[in-house]
Amino acid sequence: MVEAEKPHISSGLEGVYIAESSICKVDGQNGRLYYRGYSIDVLSSNSNFAEVCYLLLNGKLPSSAEFSDFNRQLVEARDLPEGVVNIIKEMSKKSHPMDILRTAVSSLSAYDAETADQSPEANLRKSIRIISKMSSIVATIGRINAGGSYVAPDKSLSHEENFLYMLNAKKPDKRQVDIMRDMFIIHAEHSSNASTFGTMVAGSTLADIYSAITSGISVLKGPLHGGADEAALRMMKAIGSPDNTEAYIDSALAGKQKIMGFGHRVYKAYDPRAKIIKAYLESLQLDASAEVKTYTAIALRSEKMMVEKLSQSHGIWPNVDFFAGPVYVAAGIPPELFTPIFAASRSPGWCAHMLEYWKNNKLFRPLEVYTGQLDLQYVPIEKRQ
Ligand code: ACO
Repeated sequence: MVEAEKPHISSGLEGVYIAESSICKVDGQNGRLYYRGYSIDVLSSNSNFAEVCYLLLNGKLPSSAEFSDFNRQLVEARDLPEGVVNIIKEMSKKSHPMDILRTAVSSLSAYDAETADQSPEANLRKSIRIISKMSSIVATIGRINAGGSYVAPDKSLSHEENFLYMLNAKKPDKRQVDIMRDMFIIHAEHSSNASTFGTMVAGSTLADIYSAITSGISVLKGPLHGGADEAALRMMKAIGSPDNTEAYIDSALAGKQKIMGFGHRVYKAYDPRAKIIKAYLESLQLDASAEVKTYTAIALRSEKMMVEKLSQSHGIWPNVDFFAGPVYVAAGIPPELFTPIFAASRSPGWCAHMLEYWKNNKLFRPLEVYTGQLDLQYVPIEKRQ
């Protein structure tokens, strides 16, 4: 193909618009993020996860009556079928919690009488069940991995409180609940990122919503996307002491390694979610454990160095995943649960995108430029060299 005829390939779909959406605005140049028109700063300071879920799914903040009804549906869906708990037990300690979550969420389709009902009403009801049960699944994975057994949900607790209760088998303290509320809200939605796009590609075939969300979980797992939160904390652990930070980062960059938790396809300014999480981490320092203080010092020194080295030349700033690890550690969460918690938090965003996209569905089917040969002669196997 002559160069002039070659179609433009947008590697990684960079700069390609796939749909119109009124769910989320990511303003990458100015480092701003809005869910349904509300800035993430406003929502994280004033709202709670259940209300943010309502907002994302329904496009507006609820009245008191609407919130009570919605929250009742979320609360009632919390319990897990025994078969799902058994899957978690079977895979526990053999697989990464993201793999267990992906399998457990996929299996939920077997316990939902409406799995094949593609009406908007049924899809909204299934979305509520998925959001509710994903947090229960993640908590149960953590509980069983820690050697405990399934803790039935407590209907008197908020979504964030119940998550911690099912994880630790005891009522959480206020600090843990505040951390989880912030983290759930901050991770709830982020426009057509890789996992949301993965969800939409599966959903665009008119596969059911369980299939679509299972795809989203698969895509989120990788360290270039949601898996970066666990990878960033593991890096801080490998650095070990704050005084090792600069030498570690220098050598990683010299070896062309990426530093997990930095850089973003859309943000070319400070990720507003990272700003909130960083401020929160700093506010926790007074009575933080020695472990959290060490991670915080390493994180702050890494950030300073990365910003000095790469913000001007490459537009690289910390992203949502960088400061998340030390904050989760402060809430007593083990690193292998960071990305599953991200997935549970992102479930309302994935569901909202499916509900919206299905209103005007179009199968995703991009093209590729073929660079292989054509019309080759078939040689029988016994005659091949
Ligand atoms: N550390 C060091 N260098 C980096 C980093 C990083 N974290 N991120 C990007 N760069 C450099 C690349 O090496 C490349 O440099 P070059 O042009 O000199 O070769 C340049 O910046 C562009 O990088 P790409 O990977 O091509 O940019 P892209 O927009 O495709 O990548 C991505 C975005 C994947 C997030 C990338 O920044 C990255 O790998 N970051 C680390 C993983 C991470 O934190 N992912 C979470 C993102 S947030 C989320 O998904 C929830």
